Amino acid sequence: MKSVGIDAVEIWTGNLKLDLPGTFAEQMGDDPAKYTKGLGLNASSFPDSYEDIVTMGANAAHRLMERKGLEPDDIGRIDVATESAFDNSKPVSTYVAGCLEQVFEGDFHHANKGERKFACIAGTQSLDDAYNWIRAGRNRGRAALVIATDTALYARGDAGEATQGAGAVAMLISEDPDLVELSTEQGFGSADETDFLKPNQQFPSVDGKRSVQVYLARMREALVDYQREAGTITVDDFRYAPFHTPFPGMVRKAALLAYRHITRDTEIEDELAEDIGRQPREEAFDDEEAFHDAIREYMDALKGTDRYQEWYANTIEPTLTISREVGNWYTGSVHVARASALKHAAENDIDMAGEALLVGSYGSGAQAEIHTEVVQENWHEEIEALNVDDQLEARYDINWEDYEEIHDAHNHEMDVDIEPLTTPEGEFVFDGWGRMGERK
Ligand code: CAA
Repeated sequence: MKSVGIDAVEIWTGNLKLDLPGTFAEQMGDDPAKYTKGLGLNASSFPDSYEDIVTMGANAAHRLMERKGLEPDDIGRIDVATESAFDNSKPVSTYVAGCLEQVFEGDFHHANKGERKFACIAGTQSLDDAYNWIRAGRNRGRAALVIATDTALYARGDAGEATQGAGAVAMLISEDPDLVELSTEQGFGSADETDFLKPNQQFPSVDGKRSVQVYLARMREALVDYQREAGTITVDDFRYAPFHTPFPGMVRKAALLAYRHITRDTEIEDELAEDIGRQPREEAFDDEEAFHDAIREYMDALKGTDRYQEWYANTIEPTLTISREVGNWYTGSVHVARASALKHAAENDIDMAGEALLVGSYGSGAQAEIHTEVVQENWHEEIEALNVDDQLEARYDINWEDYEEIHDAHNHEMDVDIEPLTTPEGEFVFDGWGRMGERK
C-alpha cells in the first residue's frame, strides 16, 4: 500500500499583532489573567490592510514551493480550505494559483482546483481529499497543494473577539512523504448544529458557550467512532495529540475528555481507581443529574492527578505554543498545533521518527474527526525549515486606535481605505477588489 501524507508544511502569519492581556484586556476592563490563564492566549495575529486569505495562502504556498524546488507541473491539485471566502462562485484556489503563476515558470492549467467548506474542519477534509486522490492513483505522479487560510475576525463587542486570528498553513500532500504519513484509521462525530454560523455575512453569529459544548460532544462521538475502527488504544500510544485550537483553554477541556474516554476500562483506570475511585457508570444512576454531578466530580479529580498532569504536559502542552501567540486560524488551527508539537520535539532533541500523533479536528456546524499520523524519518529537516518564530517576532504591535481602524478595514460591508501599518516585503498584496495578489 502506498505511503501517503504531508511532505512539507509552511506557515504564514498576518503581519500585525494584538496584545490580548495588554492592549485588549485594558480596553475591555478585564483581568489580563482571563486571557493568559483562562483562554490561554497572549496575542492574536491580525491582517494588515493589504492582507487577506488569498495573499496569506499564496505567500505560504510560494514559500513551500520555493523551498521544495517545485514547479507548477509538479502540482496536480490545489484545494483551499477557508471559512472566510468572499466569492460564492470562484474558488479561492484560482486566486491563489493566479498569484503563484506570477512567480513560477509555467501555469496550473492542468491542476484540479477547489474550495472546501465545513468551518474549521475543512483543512483536514482537504487533506483527506488529497490523500484519497493519491491513493486512488488518479494523481499521475503529482502532489497536491492544500492551503488552509482564514481571517478569523468577530464583530466588535462579540465574546469571540478575544479569540481572533489570521494566518495560513500550506501543506504538500504526496507519496512517500517527508513529514507524516496519514493512516487509514479515522473516526467521525457529526450533527446538524447552529452554534456558529456565517450565512452570507462577514462576521459570524456565535453562541460561544454552546459552541464549546458542541465541540466536546462531537469530539466524544469521533473518539468512539475512531475506536470502532482502531480497536483498543491507550493514552501512551501517541507522542502528541494536536487538536483544533480556537483557544488553548478549549483544548484543555477536550484533552481531559479524551483522556477520560481513552482510559475507561483500562489498566490506567484501575490504577486511578485507587486514588480517585472508579468512573461513574450511567447504568448505576436513576437520576441523570446525579450522574452528571458524579462525572463532573470524577473529571475534577482526574484533572488533579499527577498522572494526568504529566500526560497533559508532555502530550498536549507542546501543541499549544504557537496558538498562544496567534489566536484562532480556523481551518489552519489544527495544522498549526501539529507544527507546534513537532517544533517542540525538534528543539528538545526528541526523536520523533515512527512516533504516532492523535489528531483531533473540529468544525462548527458541526463535525469532529479523529485520525492518526505517523512521523516520518525526514521530519526534523522539514520542521527546522519553518521560520515561524521570525515571522511572529516581526509582527507590528498595534495599539487600540490601530485595532479599531484595521478591524473596520476588514469589514467588507464598510468602505474603509486606510494606509497599511507595515510594508510588504516580497509578498503578495491585496490591492482592492479585482486587483488581487499583485506581488510587492
Ligand atoms: N483568571 C483566570 N481565568 C479566568 C479569569 C481570570 N481572571 N477570568 C475568566 N477566566 C476563565 C473563565 O473561568 C473561563 O474558563 P473556563 O471555561 O475553563 O471556566 C475562561 O477564562 C473564559 O472566560 P469566559 O467564559 O468568561 O469568557 P467569555 O464568556 O468572554 O468567552 C468564549 C468565552 C464563549 C469561548 C468566547 O471566547 C467565544 O465566543 N469564542 C468564539 C467561539 C469559540 O471559539 N468556540 C470554541 C468552540 S467552537 C470551535 O472551536 C470552532 C471555532 O473555531 C470557532
